[in-house]
Amino acid sequence: MTRHFLRDDHLSAVQQREVLELAAKLKQNRFAHRPLAGPQSVALVFDKPSTRTRVSFSVGIAELGGFPLIMDAVGNQLARGESVADTTRVLSRQCSAIVWRTFDQSRLIEAAAHSTVPVINALSDSFHPCQVLADLFTVSEHFGEFSGRTFTFLGDAASNMASSYALALAIAGAHTRFCAPVGYQPDPAVLTQARSLAAATNGSVSLISDPQEAVRNADVLATDSWISMGQEGMREQRLADFAGYQLTTALVGRAAPHAVVLHCLPAHRGEEITAQVLDGPRSLIWNQAENRLHVQKALLSWALERG
Ligand code: CP
Ligand code: NVA
Repeated sequence: MTRHFLRDDHLSAVQQREVLELAAKLKQNRFAHRPLAGPQSVALVFDKPSTRTRVSFSVGIAELGGFPLIMDAVGNQLARGESVADTTRVLSRQCSAIVWRTFDQSRLIEAAAHSTVPVINALSDSFHPCQVLADLFTVSEHFGEFSGRTFTFLGDAASNMASSYALALAIAGAHTRFCAPVGYQPDPAVLTQARSLAAATNGSVSLISDPQEAVRNADVLATDSWISMGQEGMREQRLADFAGYQLTTALVGRAAPHAVVLHCLPAHRGEEITAQVLDGPRSLIWNQAENRLHVQKALLSWALERG
C-alpha cells in the first residue's frame, strides 16, 4: 500500500510515535540511514513560496542518499494549466516520492489518487502536517512527552496550522486550547474529528475566547501569522480583527513557569508575537525550524520503507 501523508490523521498514534522515534535516531546520526541511495529522486513541488520546507526537505533528501528535484510554480507546465493528475502520473514514473505545497487540499487528494509513490503535504490551505509533526518532536524533546501537556494556540484557529495542531495533538494525547476572535474559530469538521481522536487518547480540545484565560498554566504556547499565504488582500481587516491576540511577555507570564513558545515561522515581530518573546528564553522556535529536517527524513523513510 502506498503511504500518503496529506493530513495529520493519516498517521495513527502508533505510527506518529514510530516516526518521532526514528527522527530522534536520525538527529543523533544524520548520515547513517540511506533509503534513497541511488540516488533516487524526490519531487518537491511548490505552488506557494517556502524557505524552511524547501531547505529541510532538500537537505534531508540529500542526507538520505537521494536527489531533491525542485519544481516551482513558475517554470513548469502546471503554471500553464497542465492537470495535477497528469503531472503526478509523470512524476510518479520517475521519482520515489512527491512532496507538494499547494493551495486547495483537493489538489493533494487528486495527486495521491494518481500516484504510485507516496505523496506528502508540504502545506495546503487546510493543513501543515509536516510542521506540526516537527513541533510535536520539539516539545517531546524538551519535556520528554507531549501526552497530557496543555497546549494553547492563539490567533487564527481556522488556519492550516491550527487544523493540523487540532488533529496531531489529539492523536498525541495533549489538551489543546484554541483562542481566536469571532470569525476565526476552528473548522467544525476538523474540531469534530479532533475531539473524536482525543477521546481515544485521554486528550481534549477546547475553545477559550479570553487570551488571559486560554494561556493560564499552559505548558506550550503557539501562534502563527495572522495573514497566511493567499490572504494578503485581507491584511488590514485581519490586523484589526486579531488585535489583542498578540503573544506577549505578559501573556507568557500567565502560562506555567516552565512554559515554552512555538512559532512555525516566518514570524512578523510586532504582529502575532513580540520580538521579546520570539527571541526570548522560552522560545523553542529555532529548534523547531531545525527539527523539520530530522522529522521529515523520518517521515520519508517511514513512507518509503513501510509502504
Ligand atoms: N514553516 C514553514 O513551513 O516555513 P516555509 O514557509 O518557509 O517553508
Ligand atoms: N499559516 C501560514 C503558515 C506558513 C508556514 C501560511 O499558510 O502562510
